Amino acid sequence: MKSSCRVLIQILVIQLLTILCVSKDFDFFYFVQQWPGSYCDTKGNCCYPTTGKPDADFGIHGLWPNYNDGTYPSNCDPNTAFDPSAISDLTTSLEINWPSLACPSSNGLSFWSHEWEKHGTCSESILDQHGYFDRALKLKTQVNLLQALENAGIKPNGSFYSMVSINKAITEAIGFSPGIECNVDVSGNHQLYQIYLCVDTSGSNIIECPVLPTSSCGSKVEFPPFGNQGIEAFLVSEQTDHLEL
Ligand SMILES: *[C@@H]1O[C@H](CO)[C@@H](O)[C@H](O)[C@H]1NC(C)=O
Repeated sequence: MKSSCRVLIQILVIQLLTILCVSKDFDFFYFVQQWPGSYCDTKGNCCYPTTGKPDADFGIHGLWPNYNDGTYPSNCDPNTAFDPSAISDLTTSLEINWPSLACPSSNGLSFWSHEWEKHGTCSESILDQHGYFDRALKLKTQVNLLQALENAGIKPNGSFYSMVSINKAITEAIGFSPGIECNVDVSGNHQLYQIYLCVDTSGSNIIECPVLPTSSCGSKVEFPPFGNQGIEAFLVSEQTDHLEL
């Protein structure tokens, strides 16, 4: 083989390895939305944001890079600290669609900062900070979970619904099966807490989940209303952390 050819092959191999390594940062995203009624209806309680009570709708929890084996990378780049000024054009939409219910009450910046630093920095090669929050907001407009459930007669009114019917309602409306996570209310009932959809590494297309989080729901779960906990929520100032996988 001519040496110029060998050099060319070496360069190509290095380029190919670089591409493979960059695209192997993670395998897919979990796009996770939470039901505020179930966040608040627990022993830990909740605090409404300083910007006011959120809508009775699913809110974004995060967009989480994940691996096909179920594990996930985290805190990938300590050098890219969260910069609020980079997303100032998105703040109003984030307040509506990605509200923080943690105590004490906050304007959301600490929640978004946590999500960016823990998860967002692991998809930095694809989405910068603005892109990361923008993608998550766009995904939320692509899937209306509450509408999907209500169209199937599954309403947040404190009734219990079968997991089969919840899964079916979302799968039929969105075209892909969700992962469903429950938590437990003060009376010990399992309730619909978080819904996971999977998204390809571009952050744009919903896909069938390569792996689902283990369900903690049982066969029937409560879908509690959001709103009755208001006064109590304001009085509680106990620090709680966002539950995560
Ligand atoms: C909640 O809504 C469903 C669907 O409309 C209905 O079947 C059920 O009786 C309601 N439950 C309560 C407690 O109002």
